[in-house]
Amino acid sequence: MTVADLKKIELHIHHEGAAPPAFTKQLAHEKKMDLSKVFTDDGGYAFENFVHFLSVYEAATSVLTGPEEFARLTSAWLEESAANGVVYTESFISPDFCGGGDAGAWREYLHAIEEAASASEAKHGITLRGVVTAVRHFGPEKSRASSLCAAETAGDFIVGFGMGGDEGQFTQGDFAYAYDQAREAGLKLTTHAGEFGGPESVWDAINDLNVERIGHGVRSIEDPDLVKELVARQVTLEVCPGSNVVLGVYPDFASHPIQKLRDAGVRVTVSTDDPPFFHTTMRREYEMLEKAFGWGEADFAEITKTALDAAFCDADTKAIVAKRLEKT
Ligand code: ADE
Ligand code: ZN
Repeated sequence: MTVADLKKIELHIHHEGAAPPAFTKQLAHEKKMDLSKVFTDDGGYAFENFVHFLSVYEAATSVLTGPEEFARLTSAWLEESAANGVVYTESFISPDFCGGGDAGAWREYLHAIEEAASASEAKHGITLRGVVTAVRHFGPEKSRASSLCAAETAGDFIVGFGMGGDEGQFTQGDFAYAYDQAREAGLKLTTHAGEFGGPESVWDAINDLNVERIGHGVRSIEDPDLVKELVARQVTLEVCPGSNVVLGVYPDFASHPIQKLRDAGVRVTVSTDDPPFFHTTMRREYEMLEKAFGWGEADFAEITKTALDAAFCDADTKAIVAKRLEKT
C-alpha cells in the first residue's frame, strides 16, 4: 500500500470546478453550445492566469443549466472522488450558478444535488456536505442573496458558508452582512484568502468575517505575526498545493509553504480545489506531498485528523466518517 491509497477527507472543492472536461464537452454538445475557447487541443481546460481561469470556469459552468445537470455533475465527481479514496467531502456550491440567487430555484437545484449525493453515498461510501458560496467579484449585493439562500436551507446538508472568486475585487469586510446572516443561521464559515491576496487578506478574513477556516491562506507564511495568530485562534487552512502550483502562486511543490506552516503549528488540510482544471486528484496531491516533503502515513493521519475535526458537519456524521477512516 502507498500513501495515495489512504482514505481521505477533502474540505475544499468547487462543485462546478469538479466537472471533468469530457463531461462539460458532452453537455455543450447536447445543448449545441460553442465552448471551443474553453478547451485546449489536448482536451484540458484552457487558461493563462488566475483571472482568465475564473472566466473560463464561468464559461464552462454555463452548460449547467438546471438541477438535472447538477445532479449528473454531482454523481460524476463523487464517483471520481471515491475512487481517489475520499470518504467525506465538502463542496462549494454557488446559488449564483444554481438559479441566479433566486431562493425558490436554489431549493430545486439543492434537492437534485442532495438526491444524487445520497445515491453516491449508498453506492460508493462517500459523504458530501455543502458550503454555500458567494462569488467575490459578483459583489456584496449578490452575496446577500447567496447567504439568504444559505440561511434558508441550513441544516444537515448545507453546513457552511464561504466565498471564492477574485481576491483582487472588494475587501473581505464588504461581505460582513452576508457572513453575519449565515452565522446567525448557525452555519460555519470559511473564505478564500491569502491565495492571490497577501497576508492582509487573511487578517481581514479573521478580523472582519471571523471565519474558522480559510480557503488556501498559504500566503500567511509571509507574516510571522499572522502565523502566530492562526495558531492561537486554531484557524484551519484548506490548502490546495497543486492548484497553487498550476495558478503560479508557487513554482513547484518543493517551494510550497505547507510544510513550514505545519512546522509553525498551523492546522493544515489538503484538497484539490478544481481538480480537472489543475490536472490533479487527491491521490496525486498525496503522491506529490510524499515526494516533496517525505510525508508518510503518520503525516497524512495527522492531516486527516485535522480535517475531520475542522469539518463543518455534525458529530453523528463525523462518527460515521471516523469509522470509514478506520478501515484504511
Ligand atoms: N473559484 C474556483 N476556484 C477558485 C480558486 N482557486 N480561487 C478562487 N475562486 C475560485
Ligand atoms: Zn477554491
